[in-house]
Amino acid sequence: MRIPMIAGNWKMNTTVAEAVALVEEMRPGLDQIDNVDKVICPPFVSLAVVKELLKGSSVKLGAQNLYFEEKGAYTGEISPLMLAELCDYVIIGHSERRQYFNETVELADKKVKAALKVGLKPILCVGETIKENESGRTEEVLSRQLSLTSKQAYHTGLVLAYEPIWAIGTGKSATGEQANQTIGFIRRHISQQCGQETAQAVRILYGGSVTADNIAEFIKQPEIDGALVGGASLKAGDFLSIVKQTSSFKRGK
Ligand code: 13P
Repeated sequence: MRIPMIAGNWKMNTTVAEAVALVEEMRPGLDQIDNVDKVICPPFVSLAVVKELLKGSSVKLGAQNLYFEEKGAYTGEISPLMLAELCDYVIIGHSERRQYFNETVELADKKVKAALKVGLKPILCVGETIKENESGRTEEVLSRQLSLTSKQAYHTGLVLAYEPIWAIGTGKSATGEQANQTIGFIRRHISQQCGQETAQAVRILYGGSVTADNIAEFIKQPEIDGALVGGASLKAGDFLSIVKQTSSFKRGK
């Protein structure tokens, strides 16, 4: 049984004061829901204060990126060791990082390995552009993005997020069936690479314009284990509703 997960990627939003206010607003409701793994990923500068606010809470903390070196002369970067003190999870290879910061499959894999080494669980993002989708290259692109991910990584708690780039921040989500089909492909691909047991154990989330109004469509799909939520994770009521609906549906199953 894969435990469902809802993770909020706050991206480059919220000052420290705003992050504190948002966590204080959402924590009580989130703490009442127990059969979903709940993760919030605020900006780096708010991690320490949010960690304090989440003491005794079942809500887990994640970062949005890291650098793969342990320490040294890498001005402006944040190391796995620094994050290991603060977080449980770290988002790696988000399409915005691949797109705006030229992150490659190789770099994402170095980051995955560095995260696992210090006990951080990567949330590795994969997804195709609209052009790749329309030219029938989705499976090829996803296979390449997953080509370096090892069986050991899947077994050490790595979570995958399938985020079609054309659905991110556009208000145009994939349909539940589309997302289920592609995530089904990802699971078959992992099965071929690493075996059926690994493929069945790994959690694969959907991300891209998930809201309180459409989460049900995704969560009812058998291959989809939860969601990586952007915009809607910045509104306490919406995020809580997404987690609640996930809990009720998966509990009812
Ligand atoms: P939106 O939910 O705002 O489309 O963002 C999705 C996303 O990129 C989560 O990582």
